[in-house]
Amino acid sequence: MKSTNISPAPSAGIMAQLKAGTAALHAIAESKPLEAALISGDIGQEQYKKYLSQRWLIHRELETATDRAITRDPRLASLQLPSLYQTKNLEADLALLHAPLHAIQPLQGATTLLQEIKNAPSPAALMGIYYVFEGSKNGARYIARALAKAWSKTDTTTMRYLDPHGEEQRALWQKFKTEMDALTWSSSEQEQMVKSAQTTFTAISALDDEIHAG
Ligand code: HEM
Repeated sequence: MKSTNISPAPSAGIMAQLKAGTAALHAIAESKPLEAALISGDIGQEQYKKYLSQRWLIHRELETATDRAITRDPRLASLQLPSLYQTKNLEADLALLHAPLHAIQPLQGATTLLQEIKNAPSPAALMGIYYVFEGSKNGARYIARALAKAWSKTDTTTMRYLDPHGEEQRALWQKFKTEMDALTWSSSEQEQMVKSAQTTFTAISALDDEIHAG
């Protein structure tokens, strides 16, 4: 008898769910006036400093929480997250701009995110937040190039936050996606992850508006 090859309907991996669950929010974030100004290289140094400063508060909290999650949840080890961290890159960029870290105060959008990070109910929820910032490195590379051009720089070495990995970016993003999909996430973890990614996008868009207005 001829065997029929019935393959089960492919269940969407977590990365496909994250992408689909936040696509509309990405479109909103991408079209915010601050992002539009960044991608067209049309942003003043003061606003850029403010943008980096708020991101520094967020990444510092996120990476501290991630360190904790890695010790609690051995699944996360394969992602090698510390090699992707951004706090030190932000500190290097801010030092070049003579922006003192101790003077940075969180705006409302950042305060919301700091709370979300601190109160993340599980490593999976935290990874939803992490995903948004990791994924944002894709567009940030284009922003770095636009700013370098606008500010007559020959390369993006002074923009370590926006272009931390250079030519490695695509490969590292691909690796992150593959490793995330290779992990087993329960359905409630998947829900939490998508939900916290959505909350993160909303908070980032609100923060962008605050920075742009300020
Ligand atoms: C000028 C603004 C932006 C532009 C031009 C932009 C552009 C892009 C592009 C081209 C990709 C696709 C990369 C790929 O699949 O190879 C991408 C992915 C992504 N971006 Fe943005 N982006 C912008 C703003 C943002 C912001 C503000 C965030 C959040 C902080 C963000 C988060 C993400 C995420 C999470 C992904 C991964 C989507 C996925 O799961 O595949 N982006 N972006």
